[in-house]
Amino acid sequence: MPLADELELPLLPAELPEFAADPMPFVEAARRAHPWLAKSNVGGYIVHGFYAARDIIGSDEDTHPFYPGIAAWYDAEGTRWGDFMSQMMNATVGEKHRRLRASAQAAFTPKNINRYRGLMRQVISGLLDEWAPKGAFDFAEFASWFPISVFCGLLGVSPDVVPRIRDALEVQGESVSLDRAMRDPLLAAFDVLWDFVDSAVREREQTARGTTGLIDTMLAARDAGMIDDTELRQNLIMFAAGGYDTSRNMLAMIVYNIIDKPAIWARCAADIAYCRRVVNEGLRHSGISTVYRVAARDFEYDAVQFSKGTMLILMVSMAGRDPAYFTDPMTFDPDRANAGQHVAFGRGQHYCIGMYLARAQIEEGLQLVAQRLPHLRLAGTPTWRSYLGISGLQTLPVMLDPAPARELTPA
Ligand code: HEM
Repeated sequence: MPLADELELPLLPAELPEFAADPMPFVEAARRAHPWLAKSNVGGYIVHGFYAARDIIGSDEDTHPFYPGIAAWYDAEGTRWGDFMSQMMNATVGEKHRRLRASAQAAFTPKNINRYRGLMRQVISGLLDEWAPKGAFDFAEFASWFPISVFCGLLGVSPDVVPRIRDALEVQGESVSLDRAMRDPLLAAFDVLWDFVDSAVREREQTARGTTGLIDTMLAARDAGMIDDTELRQNLIMFAAGGYDTSRNMLAMIVYNIIDKPAIWARCAADIAYCRRVVNEGLRHSGISTVYRVAARDFEYDAVQFSKGTMLILMVSMAGRDPAYFTDPMTFDPDRANAGQHVAFGRGQHYCIGMYLARAQIEEGLQLVAQRLPHLRLAGTPTWRSYLGISGLQTLPVMLDPAPARELTPA
């Protein structure tokens, strides 16, 4: 059986701005040469086919997270940020990973998350009160205020801190850029995040504790000896960072996909259950995550051998556009029967712990945006973030069209 190195594989230049703006011509050309695997200019291989991405991301024995190597790359081992990048939940495996995850899992059940839907609606309503009167604005920037404001509400922290934390999360999002010039800004931004969660935890320790809140759940786990104080803070930073870029990009991508589809827009305004379907189809059609992994041992998949240490870039986003699994994949169809089978939240031991929070806040955000901005339309050419890491819209210029309101007719 051939090693991946011995195959004549196409190159997928996912690091190019042209790829980020329109990946499909590149991916379709690559698919013609190999159905699921391509070489990458940034090292290793890109897995873009649905079955391969789904199976490899779910195979915890074959691959491990890539993060532990990042601190050394930035010459930041032994710093607080370096420790975070190698010890946080998404970087660890086995018993430590199970412990970190179990300490917070109860806070992320659908029942617990649904308790915060009112808070989510309050946050997005407040943002719409501020942004809608502008008439024209960048929807991607608007969306960036939403998840971090909800997260502060979840922690019971004053919204005054939001601008500072948002800036720090923007910098933390650059950690996978592998740009060494980012080392000092990354370390400084991490200190801001640390102080933020540290004071939230200290404040909570002073007050009466509940049983279902995020900090309360982890304080109970700490008191039971499951995690220590550092791990508690690292978990909170992981949740803030894991939920920031992802949720805001996903909301912006969904709005971009339906802004010219008035029937879908109107149904979103009228029906939260329909928003759920639209969010699912958005995750399939325009998922925003790329997951980096390293082969933990020699393994083979579909007649290709990978050697231990090989880097794999799992494009769970492109997996949703694979015609081998999703019929007519470029059509955005919320009524698609198998939309929910996407792997946008990953699989295996690292699947997204925050997926119910993500779904709930995007659903609520989408519905309120559709209700409050019935005449939204594009006001210019969107720009795109780099594809690798968390992809999506850099800017999405929109304006409120003074045309008559759309009728709430079924799609
Ligand atoms: C649309 C929004 C989101 C998407 C598309 C998304 C996607 C993903 C994916 C693909 C993974 C798997 C990574 C891997 O296998 O290494 C993941 C893991 C994770 N996500 Fe999300 N995510 C989203 C929102 C959130 C939110 C709101 C939170 C907040 C708690 C969050 C926290 C995490 C954490 C902590 C992990 C690591 C879990 C572990 O290693 O066990 N995510 N996410």
